[in-house]
Amino acid sequence: MYDYVLGGKDHYQVDRDELERLRRVMPEVADLALENRRYLIRVCRFLAEQAGIDQYLDCGSGLPTTENVHQVVQRVDKLSKVVYVDNDPVVVAHGRALLEENDRTRFIAGDIFEPKTILGDDVVQQHLDWSRPIALMFVATLHHHKGDRHRPAEIMREYVDALPPGSFVAVSHLFDPGEGGDHETMAAFQQAVASGSLGGATARTKGEIEELLPGLELVPPGVVLLANWWSDGPNLKPLNAAQRLIAGVVARKP
Ligand SMILES: C[S@@+](CC[C@H](N)C(=O)[O-])C[C@H]1O[C@@H](n2cnc3c(N)ncnc32)[C@H](O)[C@@H]1O
Repeated sequence: MYDYVLGGKDHYQVDRDELERLRRVMPEVADLALENRRYLIRVCRFLAEQAGIDQYLDCGSGLPTTENVHQVVQRVDKLSKVVYVDNDPVVVAHGRALLEENDRTRFIAGDIFEPKTILGDDVVQQHLDWSRPIALMFVATLHHHKGDRHRPAEIMREYVDALPPGSFVAVSHLFDPGEGGDHETMAAFQQAVASGSLGGATARTKGEIEELLPGLELVPPGVVLLANWWSDGPNLKPLNAAQRLIAGVVARKP
């Protein structure tokens, strides 16, 4: 579905049908994916150019598309190392072939909600240098966690505890703005997602997203709508419903 929205070629009728069904609930739904991918690219540029990060652990990489993490960061520093993780069989098949483009880039199949397994993986341990800062990316993935609503905060704590000082964490997440019109829109959208092939997604408030970053310093402007996280230029048009329902943040481990 995500690939369909981003204009890729790796999607099936079932993906297109499901997206059209969601479009009936939220006509601008494609902008969730578009805003998310633009944020991911801006974050990678920030981490590589401004923060000097040259190691990345991308949890829930998704299907290869244009401008994947390694392409953006290796353009800044060609020696940057990237490990991608995903557990979707289609992503794993396509990911291995396309995301392992050079010897600085690796792909592993794994469940990102099992931090001990991912952190203990040989590739993750050996390809990245855990004595130097690493960027941990959880971009549009934590809202896919099913089960205990508080578990994602515990999962993130395990990852953050393992990161060396000076590391960065980037999170984007479906956003629940709290009471009001957008809250109702998000509730209707979550209900529609729950009844379809994705089987549910969990939106979080600003405070709940901040809880995913224990002990970290938020890079200004903190948790904001993705369209407002260092957008490439002024946002002259009002943000539509979909753009108002996805937020993100970048944070640093002191
Ligand atoms: C919406 S896509 C986001 C892709 C990419 N991070 C981006 O923002 O463009 C979510 C990805 O997370 C992956 N994912 C969801 N749950 C996962 C899990 N438990 N373990 C590994 N990957 C998972 C999905 O397979 C999918 O590729």
